[in-house]
Amino acid sequence: MPDCAFLPARYEVVECSTVRLAAELSRVFRRGTVPLNSSPGRNDRVECRAYEVSHQLKTLGLTLPVGKAIDFGCGSGRDARWLAKNGWHVVAIDRHAELERYFQLQSVEFICDDLSTFTDSRTFDLAIVHFTWFEGILEKVCQTLRHGGVCSLLVHSDLHFRCFGSPKIKVEIPKKLTVEQMTEFWTMDRHVSAFVLRRNSG
Ligand SMILES: C[S@@+](CC[C@H](N)C(=O)[O-])C[C@H]1O[C@@H](n2cnc3c(N)ncnc32)[C@H](O)[C@@H]1O
Repeated sequence: MPDCAFLPARYEVVECSTVRLAAELSRVFRRGTVPLNSSPGRNDRVECRAYEVSHQLKTLGLTLPVGKAIDFGCGSGRDARWLAKNGWHVVAIDRHAELERYFQLQSVEFICDDLSTFTDSRTFDLAIVHFTWFEGILEKVCQTLRHGGVCSLLVHSDLHFRCFGSPKIKVEIPKKLTVEQMTEFWTMDRHVSAFVLRRNSG
């Protein structure tokens, strides 16, 4: 059963395929034979390594009109710096002050803050939530995205946690966000669910 609430029917269909693939992929993965660059099925391809910008973000960053982006939990800024290089004005937030050094030569505005209490009066065209998760983070996304704005959400998903036994992330999509696209892929050793969400108007 999908471990998700508030998701549209088409997401549940994807979840069913996830359940089916879980046994298959975990078996293959335990043998250590998930080959790089193989693409026998849509859902088990290795798309990128952890330090590479995801295909999803590249697509969004290069096809959306350039504007203002906000990176929730930017870490060392792989994504924020790539967006800035491609013309976006980027605000990157993380609670670790020492990460600022990664942004000194880039046109990225780094803010050291705790996202759970963070507020900003500005609105953004694109929100990045890549592997940063706490309950309520998507509510923060709703508050900061302009109507019609887009969020790129990458999470280590149900399948990853089934295979590796870590606690599950319960992805709840607020009603203010529409799931426009959901895909799955592998980084080197982790399964990722990738969502494109759009902030509804009104
Ligand atoms: C797994 S890293 C992901 C970094 C980056 N988004 C990426 O994809 O490589 C999660 C980051 O989120 C930050 N983070 C997690 N919870 C946070 C919070 N409540 N407030 C601010 N930063 C947070 C952590 O400090 C960390 O840098």
